[in-house]
Amino acid sequence: MSDIIVVEDLVEVYASGTRAIDGISFRVPEGEFFGFLGPNGAGKSTTIKVLSTLLRKTSGSVTIGGHDLEQDPDGIRRIIGVQSQETVVDGDLSGRKNLLFQGHLQRMQGPALQSRVEELLDLMELKEAADRKARQYSGGMKRRLALAAALVHRPRLVFLDEPTTGLDPQSRAKVWGYLSKLNKEEGTTVFLTTQYLEEADKLCRELSIIDRGKIVASGSPADLKEQIGGEAIILTPDPDAGAGAREALEGRLRALPGVGKVVEADSGLVVYARQASRLVPEIVTLFRGVGVRLDSISLAAPTLDDVFLQKTGSRIRGEDLTSGAAPAPVGGVRGGVY
Ligand SMILES: Nc1ncnc2c1ncn2[C@@H]1O[C@H](COP(=O)(O)OP(=O)(O)OP(=O)(O)O)[C@@H](O)[C@H]1O
Ligand SMILES: [Mg+2]
Repeated sequence: MSDIIVVEDLVEVYASGTRAIDGISFRVPEGEFFGFLGPNGAGKSTTIKVLSTLLRKTSGSVTIGGHDLEQDPDGIRRIIGVQSQETVVDGDLSGRKNLLFQGHLQRMQGPALQSRVEELLDLMELKEAADRKARQYSGGMKRRLALAAALVHRPRLVFLDEPTTGLDPQSRAKVWGYLSKLNKEEGTTVFLTTQYLEEADKLCRELSIIDRGKIVASGSPADLKEQIGGEAIILTPDPDAGAGAREALEGRLRALPGVGKVVEADSGLVVYARQASRLVPEIVTLFRGVGVRLDSISLAAPTLDDVFLQKTGSRIRGEDLTSGAAPAPVGGVRGGVY
């Protein structure tokens, strides 16, 4: 299948001097469910703004649906839908009127527009509230309305900038369901940004991880986790252990059989290893040998967060979809503690 998005060496420098996109290249085949995963300030929204013609690029090339961004931005606008992070629905208009208005902007009219609007109200479960002013909608309803607005004209490609941030788990699950359906049944290509690892893992068939304006990893969620090479062993050494002891510890951990990488995380050490459980007794002995207390040890299957940690040395934020709380400490949510 042909690539609907082709981006080569794209750079975006804001007037303030911030290099928000620092030379990224990627391709998205038509029909793909593609994710852009990254922490706050990574450059996700900037990328969407450039690709959707809302922001002029500094350099590089972008082709969407065969239309060159510079030569034919109108050609691009005709085939895309955009839900930006700041998408605002008109609070004075009802949900239904908002969608009709969007349709008019897209030069739709008559029965074709009306039936599309009813279909979307239905899908987004906004039918009952359709005649209420959008200002009275809950946050989740506003998001769903904004999503519907991006889809009125049945775009071939839809850009969604963190469509589920701030939604409660039920609304989030509904949006996930709808997006999957849109992609599978209507064949719409989806370009979605998220800070949620679980969301990227669940929805996206292909994804790129972006950090500080650069793509640090790309592939399917399974491929990316496979690259980790084994499981994660999460260790919490005594926080008061001296730098010398920690260094000795890391050196010895690296030398254990099957160990790929040892990474320092916020609250401890993460060791990636094949057949990790077999290493547990050795690790305990090793800590004793170095004279550092081991406060906890747990094992976990690798997640996309581990991919991010290995590539960047820090953990991505915005984890923990269920409670909406701050990210759980390392080892706090994932592994069984030994
Ligand atoms: N209008 C602007 N002018 C100057 N700098 C900007 C502007 N918009 C964004 N930036 C900066 O560009 C970088 C990338 O921002 P961007 O909004 O693309 O990140 P993001 O990945 O979408 O983050 P978030 O998850 O918080 O939405 C950040 O350093 C940000 O401060
Ligand atoms: Mg953003």
